[in-house]
Amino acid sequence: MKQRVLLTGGAGYIGSHTYVALIEAGYDVLILDNFSNAARDVPTRLAEITGQSAAVVEADILDRASLDRVFADNKIDAVIHFAAFKSVAESVKKPLVYMQNNVVGLVNLMQSMDQADVRRLVFSSSATVYGNAADVPTPETASLGYGNPYGHSKLVCEQIIEQTIASDPRWSVGVLRYFNPVGAHPSGIIGEDPSGIPDNLMPYVAKVAAGQLPVLSVFGDDYPTPDGTGVRDYIHVVDLAKGHVNSLSALERDGQGHVVNLGTGRGYSVFELIATYARASNRDIPYKIAPRRDGDAASSYADPSLAKTVLGFEAEFDLFDMCRTSWVWMQTAAERAE
Ligand code: NAD
Ligand code: UD1
Repeated sequence: MKQRVLLTGGAGYIGSHTYVALIEAGYDVLILDNFSNAARDVPTRLAEITGQSAAVVEADILDRASLDRVFADNKIDAVIHFAAFKSVAESVKKPLVYMQNNVVGLVNLMQSMDQADVRRLVFSSSATVYGNAADVPTPETASLGYGNPYGHSKLVCEQIIEQTIASDPRWSVGVLRYFNPVGAHPSGIIGEDPSGIPDNLMPYVAKVAAGQLPVLSVFGDDYPTPDGTGVRDYIHVVDLAKGHVNSLSALERDGQGHVVNLGTGRGYSVFELIATYARASNRDIPYKIAPRRDGDAASSYADPSLAKTVLGFEAEFDLFDMCRTSWVWMQTAAERAE
């Protein structure tokens, strides 16, 4: 019998790529999303990629009764929980909204799962839980912290998960700490679609390459890094999606949880990313040097060795693949909008 996996936030950027990876791996998948940050036509586009219609429930994780109904109406074996708000800048302006959606949402979900006797969960965490004081490369044992309400919400979620597992060993949970997910499905049919002006580097660069924004501000060129700009561990979203499939099978196999980094273990600077995107898109990317952004670390990249041991996971795609697929996505999205 096929295992049935519920994907909260499955219409979003990482959720939609994971949906494709799960279907390819032979899972039966149900998407739950309130479409607060996803386009309405994502399920149709997923069907275009997989050749089968996508099962979707429109619901809000803050609505406990809806969650209970989903578990009552469907035999769910495991849940991957993506649904959350993710903008650092917005979280500083609306901390209560972030705590409610990210923390209360998780509590609702875990209570509903518990009631339905479903205790296998993969949780979207972030390298943001290392705060800024981490050693690089960063192992999972590094000290934890936060620099903004978004980061705080992820850290609290991890603590809630840890305490719940301690209270009831029937839970098996995979906590995945993503580094910097970028890129798109190679078909260009799904990708990251930020509304408004992006906060993050790759979507900003993509919009500059496409002529939708005039110039990129490079936030600081005087960091103690090889070229003075910030270094990050960018990971292709298709690799990241595969990490979720591996996490689910590790939970099925071992019945035991894990907390692992998902990154490549290699850092790239802002200048390297700009140059690679220019090559992949064959476009100029005008930029200017601007002051450092508050809260930014000079350098952040994963120690990816635990993911290899526990999940058999290794990222395959390089920065050029990330930029090239992002560019294909930008072009197909523009064609679809015409
Ligand atoms: P996204 O915004 O594209 O996807 C989140 C999805 O959840 C959206 O489709 C949104 O409509 C849905 N959603 C939000 N609140 C909901 C609610 N209350 N009920 C139902 N659905 C709801 O974001 P993403 O980039 O795909 O991120 C997925 C997860 O990964 C998030 O938990 C995020 O914090 C985490 N994460 C993302 C990054 C990143 O750089 N993208 C890095 C680290 C961790
Ligand atoms: C940011 C968040 C982090 C979150 C992650 C994924 C902060 C402080 N951190 O991480 O909590 O988990 O996004 O959503 O916001 N840069 C520019 N110009 C830009 C944008 C970025 O030079 O217009 C630089 C940054 O200074 C950094 C690098 O590009 O050196 C990457 O930035 P970004 O994509 O925002 O990711 P993080 O800062 O790693």
